Amino acid sequence: MRLDRFLRERGYGSRKEIQDNIRKGKVSVDSEIVKDPEFRVPEGAEVCFGGQPAEKSRYICYLLNKPSGCVTARTDENHPVVMDLIPSDVPDLAPVGRLDKDTEGVLLITNDGELAHRLLSPKYHVPKKYYAECRSPFPEEAKTLLENPMVFQDFTTEGAVFEKLTDSSAYLTVTEGKFHQVKRMFLKIGCEVTYLRRESFAGLTPEGLAPGEYRKLSEEETTALRKASGLEE
Ligand code: URA
Repeated sequence: MRLDRFLRERGYGSRKEIQDNIRKGKVSVDSEIVKDPEFRVPEGAEVCFGGQPAEKSRYICYLLNKPSGCVTARTDENHPVVMDLIPSDVPDLAPVGRLDKDTEGVLLITNDGELAHRLLSPKYHVPKKYYAECRSPFPEEAKTLLENPMVFQDFTTEGAVFEKLTDSSAYLTVTEGKFHQVKRMFLKIGCEVTYLRRESFAGLTPEGLAPGEYRKLSEEETTALRKASGLEE
């Protein structure tokens, strides 16, 4: 693997930052300074950045089962925020997108900004599955209406999947992550959402976590997320 890619996969910055640092002589391979970003790293070689072994990923990702009543933000003057629930001193941690204050369920929190961006981008089709309860029964044509492109002022939906559970509760899977998207989609078919929970995000579920609890994703899970969003081969 190329040296710049090797460092990128371990979280040492953007491609450009890494290439600059390599050219500045900050990187060694088996104790030799290497200034060529395209240098092929031999299998098992020891790569050091700033004198420290670049062994493990510097990225970290938490999965929080967000409880209702807390705001998806770093700080808020009037309400508890999701970041209060993760006692971590890792710098640059931020939620991946937003869940409304009254929405529960899977919320990822990471210091990997590029991953966060891609997980939310419609371009990578990362599925987000929601469980919704509505005030009134779904109309007969609910499935057709929700699964076909729905036009809103700021975006058009694509590839949603509606799975009816009862007259007024269902799963809805979407690949975008627009503001109040699920509530707006249901409202468009005449149904006001009274309860919303995100059941899964990119296949990750809150299984085993009570609302308010979190866990750190394993390195394998983080790598799988990076692969799903095209950041790693
Ligand atoms: N869609 C919504 O309407 N609200 C959320 O919290 C998440 C998705």
